[in-house]
Amino acid sequence: MSSAQMPLIDVPLPALAQVERYPRMRYMGSKYRLLPTLADVFQQVGGRTALDPFSGSGVVSYLLKAQGYAVTSGDYLNFPVTLTKAACVNQDLRLSDEDVEGIVKGGNRDGRDFIQKTYEQLFFTAADLRFLDAAWSQIDTLTGSKRQLALASLVLAAARKQPRGVFTVTGLRYDDGRASLHMPLAQQFVNCVDAWNVAVFEGERCRAVQGDVSSAESGADLVYLDPPYAPPRDDNDYVKRYWFLEGLANYWDNGTAAVMTDTKTRKLPKRPTAFGSKTTIAAALTDTFEKFRSSTIVLSYGSNAVPSLDRLTGMLRDVKGSTPEVIELQHRYHFGTHATAARREAVEYVVVAP
Ligand SMILES: C[S@@+](CC[C@H](N)C(=O)[O-])C[C@H]1O[C@@H](n2cnc3c(N)ncnc32)[C@H](O)[C@@H]1O
Repeated sequence: MSSAQMPLIDVPLPALAQVERYPRMRYMGSKYRLLPTLADVFQQVGGRTALDPFSGSGVVSYLLKAQGYAVTSGDYLNFPVTLTKAACVNQDLRLSDEDVEGIVKGGNRDGRDFIQKTYEQLFFTAADLRFLDAAWSQIDTLTGSKRQLALASLVLAAARKQPRGVFTVTGLRYDDGRASLHMPLAQQFVNCVDAWNVAVFEGERCRAVQGDVSSAESGADLVYLDPPYAPPRDDNDYVKRYWFLEGLANYWDNGTAAVMTDTKTRKLPKRPTAFGSKTTIAAALTDTFEKFRSSTIVLSYGSNAVPSLDRLTGMLRDVKGSTPEVIELQHRYHFGTHATAARREAVEYVVVAP
């Protein structure tokens, strides 16, 4: 029996067991390893509504939903919003075997070829690129949660097939021998549909909105803030790493996106955010704390980032009127090559400001 036909589980799983079902995706700064700590903190905070305005891979929004919160997720990129629409907003729809067959075998409905033309010989195989155009032409006939599930599956398949999951390099320069790098994208897609189907469960009503944190609605009982960490050197730009997924989630804005045709990878332009630089992040954090001052703020931050923990807790104390609680966890970033990963061993903070 494929997952599409699995009976809906009507007995809620404990939150951490439920979150095991969330499909894994390599994502810079994702909090998979901190989930047990976050689950404890969220449980102690309590409340009914939660906001996760930097949702990224979506795994923390999913945990919050599994803990019984009505969650509003957001991200300034569109593909993370696709993921939370599929797994959090969606309460009970799954893709059936017929849906999947239509997408994989239905052919190219309208002859579109933007992806093949733009990324030929840069990413994936010719057959993979043909599949992406054809699959999109089929997905365009779907609406609602089925569409989001199909797009989330396409995004996850592309991320899993790309070495290290980032689109800063072309070809297989970092081929580490994983089977997923060589599996045809169509097969990868079918596997990813299974993975998202299994993740669907019924909880409180959730929402997902694309936008800058400054435009997110305030007033939730709990606000989980996981902004990009501003590194003292280097950059933390998400578009630089994931632009292909960003394009794929909306078919490069129906083929109108500002592809940088003079770049080797035909990438999309970086998208500036105040959280992207050590010179603007402190003010951006202060504004964000002010905006959510009436909520319990739970903030994730890292010791190798700017501003320092002292400064952060000072800023939160100024806004909230009391000193926040700090939980420290050793954390080795699984991101980057072996050598850089070792350098990135750091303390991860969870700061709780009631
Ligand atoms: C550290 S990641 C979040 C990781 C997430 N908690 C997880 O576990 O996967 C930060 C996210 O913030 C998003 N982001 C960056 N600047 C933003 C802004 N100004 N407003 C909203 N989202 C932003 C990025 O696209 C990225 O997905």
